[in-house]
Amino acid sequence: MPAPKPLEFPPGKTLPEELSAAMKRIEATGVRYPEGYYQILLEKYTKEGVFYPHILMIIGEPRINNHFYCSHVLKATGNLLDYGCGTGDNVRQLIRDGFSRGRITAFDINRASIDLGFDLYLDQDEIGDLFTVSETFPYGPDQFDLVYSASVFHVIVEDDILELYLSNAWSTIKPGGIFFGSTAGMKGEGFVDSPGKWGPPRILTRDQLAGHLAGAGFEVMEIVERPHGHHHVPHHENRCVLEFCAKKPA
Ligand SMILES: C[S@@+](CC[C@H](N)C(=O)[O-])C[C@H]1O[C@@H](n2cnc3c(N)ncnc32)[C@H](O)[C@@H]1O
Repeated sequence: MPAPKPLEFPPGKTLPEELSAAMKRIEATGVRYPEGYYQILLEKYTKEGVFYPHILMIIGEPRINNHFYCSHVLKATGNLLDYGCGTGDNVRQLIRDGFSRGRITAFDINRASIDLGFDLYLDQDEIGDLFTVSETFPYGPDQFDLVYSASVFHVIVEDDILELYLSNAWSTIKPGGIFFGSTAGMKGEGFVDSPGKWGPPRILTRDQLAGHLAGAGFEVMEIVERPHGHHHVPHHENRCVLEFCAKKPA
């Protein structure tokens, strides 16, 4: 299981402000909310809490369309698994970019973020069938041409769980298929600092990421360092996002 995260917002961030900002980002994608909907959601999340406050702070900012491999994905003909899909931001972006919904499967071990996505995008009737939640990985060997993993490695604390996650990804990708995604990283190969209370629990160097991918059997094609990019993450000079692309040998 991912690390239990605090059910509270970082200093300076509040539910009313973050909810309002999230709804504005999502309205910019064309979603229209009914009258009074902000108040309804505010009351709901004040009462229930937001399972991952951090996710509310980034919903509406999909990462997949900026991934260096995305243009190849949009031209590809095979099927895709979003492994650890969270709110489904990336699935919706793929659909907006013309990747046909019938080729997309979204999976997560936790329903909370998926439901947050439906609350904010109001599209459960349209795309609810693409999402699967299960404690165990439900897919067999050689089922997907593409597996996408965004911001999942860095929430997995235990090494054996990360190994299992990677071996599931390897197994379910067809020979010759592609594993691509991103995770929180550290520039250079030096000291990896403590993530602190608000940071993700696992920050990898480029070599460590390459080692995990190769250890699972993947042929690493490319790892690219990207600026952190999220306005709300406390600034760490040597933090970055590591985007990767790896192949399961044919
Ligand atoms: C930081 S969120 C990122 C969600 C989404 N990929 C995105 O980019 O917005 C991490 C997600 O990984 C999921 N996760 C963590 N460990 C997992 C595992 N072993 N298998 C599948 N999903 C996992 C969490 O439940 C959470 O939804």
